[in-house]
Amino acid sequence: MPSRKTNGLLITFEGIDGCGKSTQLKMAARYLRSRGLDIATLREPGSTRISERIRRMLLDPRLDMSDITELLLYEAARSELVDKEIAPLLAAGRIVLCDRYYDSTTAYQGYGRRLDLTMVRRLHEVAVGAYTPDLTLLFDLPLKTALTRRGKNPDRLESQSLAFFRRVARGFREIARNEPRRVTVLDARKSTARVFVAVQRELDRKLKLPPLP
Ligand code: TYD
Repeated sequence: MPSRKTNGLLITFEGIDGCGKSTQLKMAARYLRSRGLDIATLREPGSTRISERIRRMLLDPRLDMSDITELLLYEAARSELVDKEIAPLLAAGRIVLCDRYYDSTTAYQGYGRRLDLTMVRRLHEVAVGAYTPDLTLLFDLPLKTALTRRGKNPDRLESQSLAFFRRVARGFREIARNEPRRVTVLDARKSTARVFVAVQRELDRKLKLPPLP
């Protein structure tokens, strides 16, 4: 993977299922475009032809797969995404907003499935190389609230046990504790509008945007 020296910026949105990050990402894209910035949005797993096919396998509740297969499929989908989308977009100086990235794998496969964290991190390096996020917004929500927000028809990951999601939530909090410069934790219990005030503040800070009148 070539080294990354570009004007582009990679911002990732993370959190447990039901934390509201996808809604916030859409609002963030709209806001930044209104300020004249060139924004691309992506989601994980997905956003390339191969990654969307892998996504279908990963989320299919009828499929039973080993934990290592699951880990490798997430990383394979990610490697495609970096190669086909993230690297070229950043090289063109774009600002990329990505719904989930490797922190989800650390939290779900590393902490949730209890896979060796050193191995998991090593695979992130293989999949993304120098394409680490410039900023990660972690939407923190008590597990109970998140579970009630989820829709019916759970996908394969959403059908996991409560104990699994407890470990995932702890994983996200530990990631934030280990990398406070990259990861900003936002309280996702508030209303969508109030959470977005905090998102906007973080984006303005990172992109050095002057406050709106
Ligand atoms: P998605 O429908 O995108 O969930 P959400 O809208 O809540 O983001 O499905 C992604 C699911 O895959 C979600 O349950 C989290 C899980 N996941 C992992 O387990 N590992 C990963 O690396 C990623 C990116 C997602």
